[in-house]
Amino acid sequence: MGKKRASLPIRQLLVLRSKPVFSIFLVFCVFAFVRLNRSKSRSSTTDKSSIDEKSKLETNPKVAFLFLARRNVPLDFMWGAFFQEANVRNFSIYIHSEPGFVFNESTSTSPFFYGRQLNDSIKVAWGDSSMIEAERLLLKVALGDPANQRFVLLSDSCLPLYKFRDIYEHLISSPKSYIESYFDFEDDRYDPKLLHAIPKDRWRKGSQWFTLIRRHAQIVADDDVVFPIIKKSCKRQSNASVSARRQMLDLHKPQDCIPDEHYLQTLLAMSGFENEFFRRSLTYAQWNQSATEKDKQWHPFTFDYTDASPQSIREIKEIEAIHYESENWTEWCQVNGAFAPCYLFARKFTRGAAVRLLSEGLLGPFDPVLFLNATRRFFPVKHRDIQAR
Ligand SMILES: *[C@@H]1O[C@H](CO)[C@@H](O)[C@H](O)[C@H]1NC(C)=O
Ligand SMILES: *[C@@H]1O[C@H](CO)[C@@H](O)[C@H](O)[C@H]1NC(C)=O
Ligand SMILES: *[C@@H]1O[C@H](CO)[C@@H](O)[C@H](O)[C@H]1NC(C)=O
Ligand SMILES: *[C@@H]1O[C@H](CO)[C@@H](O)[C@H](O)[C@H]1NC(C)=O
Ligand SMILES: *[C@@H]1O[C@H](CO)[C@@H](O)[C@H](O)[C@H]1NC(C)=O
Ligand SMILES: *[C@@H]1O[C@H](CO)[C@@H](O)[C@H](O)[C@H]1NC(C)=O
Ligand SMILES: *[C@@H]1O[C@H](CO)[C@@H](O)[C@H](O)[C@H]1NC(C)=O
Repeated sequence: MGKKRASLPIRQLLVLRSKPVFSIFLVFCVFAFVRLNRSKSRSSTTDKSSIDEKSKLETNPKVAFLFLARRNVPLDFMWGAFFQEANVRNFSIYIHSEPGFVFNESTSTSPFFYGRQLNDSIKVAWGDSSMIEAERLLLKVALGDPANQRFVLLSDSCLPLYKFRDIYEHLISSPKSYIESYFDFEDDRYDPKLLHAIPKDRWRKGSQWFTLIRRHAQIVADDDVVFPIIKKSCKRQSNASVSARRQMLDLHKPQDCIPDEHYLQTLLAMSGFENEFFRRSLTYAQWNQSATEKDKQWHPFTFDYTDASPQSIREIKEIEAIHYESENWTEWCQVNGAFAPCYLFARKFTRGAAVRLLSEGLLGPFDPVLFLNATRRFFPVKHRDIQAR
């Protein structure tokens, strides 16, 4: 009671104070109403189809699947089964492959891929900035369709871990992008002489396999500041020059820099958008450190028929959090406050592995009961150096 009373004078005061404004507003409203009605009746016949078109787009956001392929997409049969269950208005496909490579009956068993190759694709060297250029080309073309609201970058060895409907709902309901991004305090790739235009505290590292909301896709496509710097100054060193410098006991470490492991993360950190994405990739890769090589390089493990067991797929699906070792930071996987699987896609899988997964029906729907029952699993992101693909 008392509370209600106390608030009354304030409301009255507001009404009184705004009275002159209100009358002007009222006049404006009447005017606007008349105009609106007039234009409505005028346009009702001519613009109806375009209004329908627009509302259709608004209610049916699409997920754009961007395939970065060397040539064909070896797991096309699996993606075919995946897209088969989708509404064609809910997704679009774009492929960047070798220039001149054509996706047709001769090169792919899945009609979903026919005619989806970019017409202006470029020659890509893995681990080179040309890979980022290809990603930006994919984004530019996909942005041409205003219905595309989420942009998922996939390699030619990626596969989906869930059915289309689950992945679609997950992506569309999440208002944020997904980008693996972290500080690496031991990082020796940052060369202040070359990269001075990028402050060291904005230098980030992480996997290139992104999922972007439209706004971030636009930022990447429009970027003409960070990409030229990375292209010029972040380069992978050849084995010869690395070992030559080691032999000369060159104390200045060679800046072996892999552009695609820094570009997107650093761009968004530079643009001040770090609070708008989840700091993790939706694409799983198992990192193995090779014991044989002197360098102890990290490699993404390739799953073949025997490795793609129900057990290994379940283990990937049960991962609930990502632990960044270099920052001692644990990122719990959530969307809109609810726990969610960390990974929706995984790489690298052979055709044999995909055949097994399909035939054993392992890519079933997301099962919350199974998920909540699962033993806690963390995915450690270690300091890793050279990535082989
Ligand atoms: C397609 O999108 C509509 C609206 O966004 C959604 O209701 C429907 O479940 C989606 N269908 C599939 C198969 O994902
Ligand atoms: C597929 O495209 C290639 C290159 O254009 C062409 O040589 C081949 O005949 C095509 N195959 C079919 C089945 O259309
Ligand atoms: C490339 O051009 C062909 C022929 O004009 C067209 O059918 C195809 O859709 C284009 N590809 C993309 C990704 O736009
Ligand atoms: C660099 O060395 C690694 C192993 O030491 C080898 O696998 C790779 O092929 C070499 N790359 C080049 C370009 O020589
Ligand atoms: C490498 O991968 C194999 C196969 O999954 C696994 O058994 C092994 O533990 C991995 N090794 C490391 C060092 O991660
Ligand atoms: C990491 O953080 C936890 C708590 O957040 C702390 O207990 C632990 O000591 C930290 N570990 C290291 C190596 O800093
Ligand atoms: C979940 O865990 C409970 C208790 O451990 C068990 O009784 C139940 O069968 C489990 N459910 C599934 C689907 O694994």
